[in-house]
Amino acid sequence: MGEYPPSVTVVHSTVVTLFPDLFRPLLEQSVFGRAVRRGLLRVDFVDLRTFGEGRHRVVDDRPFGGGPGMVLMAEPVIRAVEAARARHPRGCRTVYLSPQGRTLTQAMVRDLATAPGLVLLCGRYEGVDERALEVLRPEEVSIGDYVLSGGELAAMVVLDAVARLRPGVLGDERSPAEDSFGEGEGLLDHPHYTRPLDVRGIGVPEVLRGGNHGAIAAWRRAQALARTRARRPDLLRGRPGSPDAPAAAPPA
Ligand SMILES: C[S@@+](CC[C@H](N)C(=O)[O-])C[C@H]1O[C@@H](n2cnc3c(N)ncnc32)[C@H](O)[C@@H]1O
Repeated sequence: MGEYPPSVTVVHSTVVTLFPDLFRPLLEQSVFGRAVRRGLLRVDFVDLRTFGEGRHRVVDDRPFGGGPGMVLMAEPVIRAVEAARARHPRGCRTVYLSPQGRTLTQAMVRDLATAPGLVLLCGRYEGVDERALEVLRPEEVSIGDYVLSGGELAAMVVLDAVARLRPGVLGDERSPAEDSFGEGEGLLDHPHYTRPLDVRGIGVPEVLRGGNHGAIAAWRRAQALARTRARRPDLLRGRPGSPDAPAAAPPA
């Protein structure tokens, strides 16, 4: 990988992977790349291969009990993650990206973003020898109920979602609280429009053109609520006014 600005960073993550180069586009481009160049974020790598065994730095072997595929051996994984942890202060969090982990939510992203550092372990092949997980005790995080070939794409999802919560990463004018699942109400976002005014005969809601900020805010909130109700009613569960909300306490 190329050199990235040294650590005067708000969040520092170390990724343990066999394929650090897969991360290059994320680290060099767009919002994330700009934040790395400005020193707001730092991501570095421990190449699992370095901890492989023998002249060929072997990191995988056939599974006990037979069956297809290879398994990442415990010792190289343990030593690589320990080397990654040594780069971080106490209290850093270790995440093993795994389809068997807790499914990532914005609430989990907010929580991870408070960590003094992140170590992200990317599996490959059939996964990691279970004993490495017993020794390292990482948090296991899945990005959804499907199976990827490796943890790298999932690690990039975590890195990106955490990064955009850091002040300054999105630019001063944007707050992640305004996005879907934002802190506070946790609703889906309202619809957005930009120029031109007419797209194939479809206009822009009048209220957005009037310059009445109160009316615009009210319209956006109503839209966000309606969308959430239609697309993700589960997000409204338990809120006052929703069908399953607890009944109001009787007057004393
Ligand atoms: C082919 S998968 C192994 C799947 C494993 N045999 C299973 O069925 O649970 C290889 C690696 O990809 C990563 N991976 C695959 N799907 C993922 C998901 N949905 N979320 C996070 N990581 C995933 C994990 O790091 C995993 O060790």
